[in-house]
Amino acid sequence: MIDIAILGFGVIGGGVAGVLEANGGHIAERLGTGIRIKYILDQREFPGTPYAGLVVHDIGVILSDPDVSVVVEAMGGVHPAAEYTAAAIECGKSVVTSNKAVVADRGDVLLAAARRRGVRYLFEASVGGGIPIIRPMTDDLASNRIESVRGILNGTTNFVLSRMEEGVPYADALDEARELGYAERDPSADVGGFDSARKIVILAALAFGKLIPIEKISIRGIDAVTPEELAEAKRNGCRIKLVAETSLTADGRIYAAVAPEAVPPTSLFYSVGGVFNAVSVTGNMLGEAVFYGRGAGREATAGAVVADIIDAAERRFAAPPALMWTRARDEDLSPVK
Ligand code: HSE
Repeated sequence: MIDIAILGFGVIGGGVAGVLEANGGHIAERLGTGIRIKYILDQREFPGTPYAGLVVHDIGVILSDPDVSVVVEAMGGVHPAAEYTAAAIECGKSVVTSNKAVVADRGDVLLAAARRRGVRYLFEASVGGGIPIIRPMTDDLASNRIESVRGILNGTTNFVLSRMEEGVPYADALDEARELGYAERDPSADVGGFDSARKIVILAALAFGKLIPIEKISIRGIDAVTPEELAEAKRNGCRIKLVAETSLTADGRIYAAVAPEAVPPTSLFYSVGGVFNAVSVTGNMLGEAVFYGRGAGREATAGAVVADIIDAAERRFAAPPALMWTRARDEDLSPVK
């Protein structure tokens, strides 16, 4: 039996429990053993649910239990999620997360710590919700030099923009996205472009090995897009999409930015509607490959988290892969493409 602990029992943490409940038999067949939630760390108690008896309020209980081999960090925000992640790794536990804020802020340090301790730090669900993108970039595209990555990386804003095209006012569309569990706790991270920026930081690190401080990225969100701009894009046969991109310039520096863009029908991004995301990766051997699917939402994202739990459990005794990032310096970055 693989014992896990879930830190944060909100949309994603609760979704992980749901996936394990729905697909536990299938997962046990694949793993040769089951995955059991031993602890849930949360401030709430969840009385009357099957999880009430698993709740603890002290991370120390989880850290000191040698049976827990995988910790799922689904708390959101950088603090205390980052500190708990570092502590779990130091205690020899693999950590699986959907928390892009932590990965973008200190993925370099946490990956190095995991490597040192011989455990895994996995974050497939941190970009693109349920879309496989981290593992393809880490493993399947390892033979390519990545030249650029462009994507619609935020489900909330794409959903809001699609609803606005249908005539739904901005505030109502954003409320819908919150009710559906797509938006961040503070949705200004979505509409202000910061969530997309964190995701492009992660993809740039996977592509170029450098972790860019988020404050070095040019970020424009959809909060400034007016209905008039949407209408004008429509008149021109285009749709507004929030596009994040990163590429390597001719002089070997990294460009990264997030901005609303009017995309024409000839673009693959034109047909990406609702909560869906698309990520286009160009490698020097493969050319362009596009990854498409649900970019937010409980089941889609939790499914990716559980896949990482399976990976961590299956390769428990294998050396962690050589994923090493260094922090980007000013001279590594370019303000223009
Ligand atoms: N708020 C995020 C989004 C959740 O809408 O894309 C998934 O990362």
